[in-house]
Amino acid sequence: MLLALETSCDETSAAVVHDGVVRSNVVASQIKLHAEYGGVVPELATREHLLNLLPVARAALAQAGVTTAELDVIAATRGPGLPAALRAGFTAAQALAFALGRPCLGIHHHEAHLYSPWTAGDPLRADFGAFQPNVSLVVSGGHTMLVHVRAELEHEVLGATLDDAAGEAFDKISKLLGLPYPGGPLLDRLAEEGRADVHSFPRPLLHEPNDEFSFSGLKTSVRVFLDRHPGLAEDPVALRDLCAGVRAAIVETLVTKTLRAARRLQVPCITASGGVTCNRALRRELTAACQRAGLQLRLADPALCTDNAAMVGILAERKHRHGQGLVEVDAEPIPGWELNGAIPAPRL
Ligand code: KG4
Ligand code: ZN
Repeated sequence: MLLALETSCDETSAAVVHDGVVRSNVVASQIKLHAEYGGVVPELATREHLLNLLPVARAALAQAGVTTAELDVIAATRGPGLPAALRAGFTAAQALAFALGRPCLGIHHHEAHLYSPWTAGDPLRADFGAFQPNVSLVVSGGHTMLVHVRAELEHEVLGATLDDAAGEAFDKISKLLGLPYPGGPLLDRLAEEGRADVHSFPRPLLHEPNDEFSFSGLKTSVRVFLDRHPGLAEDPVALRDLCAGVRAAIVETLVTKTLRAARRLQVPCITASGGVTCNRALRRELTAACQRAGLQLRLADPALCTDNAAMVGILAERKHRHGQGLVEVDAEPIPGWELNGAIPAPRL
């Protein structure tokens, strides 16, 4: 019986996982709090984590019908993320594990996203028996990367964003269009009612022979366009067309580069995870492209796309079985932890 905590950014989450099954997954989102400031304010995020962590963990235990005495393993996100936010959850996990005399695991946040597409169903259940070597698109507000997953827990980052993550681009461009934070989901909804071929925005690095992304130029191009057409985004029809044009540029770039990497590496499967995997056009276009290419596709369950502790717990259980990820009670969070990076040696 495993309790997992996630506090790397602006969701406080706790989940109970048992033998590959998610018994509970409670998420307290801080989106409303940060919306007033147009982005995540780290000090406020930390304060909210500290306020919410115990109620959220108690709720996860209660929903799973489990007491702390029945926990065998505790896990938490160790990095990457906001330093003080990470520390809130990671320290709580270490303290609980220490008090109970149980092992504690420190989990890489992107690695948890990376393997989240292998958990599905109701109740959510890990399905690693179906694992296929894959190219994985991890795409959210803080990260955009392509990863080659050769085998379970054996992966290598192929390329990442050189500047803004795709979710960050969605959010920043939404702001330019006058939409409230976080704009990604709203831009997606408005784009459904717009025409994608009215405005053609740049597809950054689309034809470069690499697995890297860059979205800040797209943001600049939208800003320049809006400067030249003041007031256009206030017209409801024009706004929807702009949203559709922006979404098409981001989605085409993500889909084309993911498929190209999969073909080059000759993997039978593509997976996608992270908050932007909620995007309807991305889900549709990836599905169509994989059908055309004869590739299997696993999209993260919508409940596991945005940040959550269930994905942390599922990965922690796999790691525990493989004897990986154990941390001492004085181990530190790693805010800048690279996915390819080795686990730093414990402090002496
Ligand atoms: O994975 P996540 O919760 O947090 C990070 O680890 O960053 O992802 C949040 C990001 C935000 O940028 C949000 O705008 C974006 O995912 N997002 C979307 C959609 N739903 C969430 N972007 C585009 N379309 C959506 N439907
Ligand atoms: Zn995330």
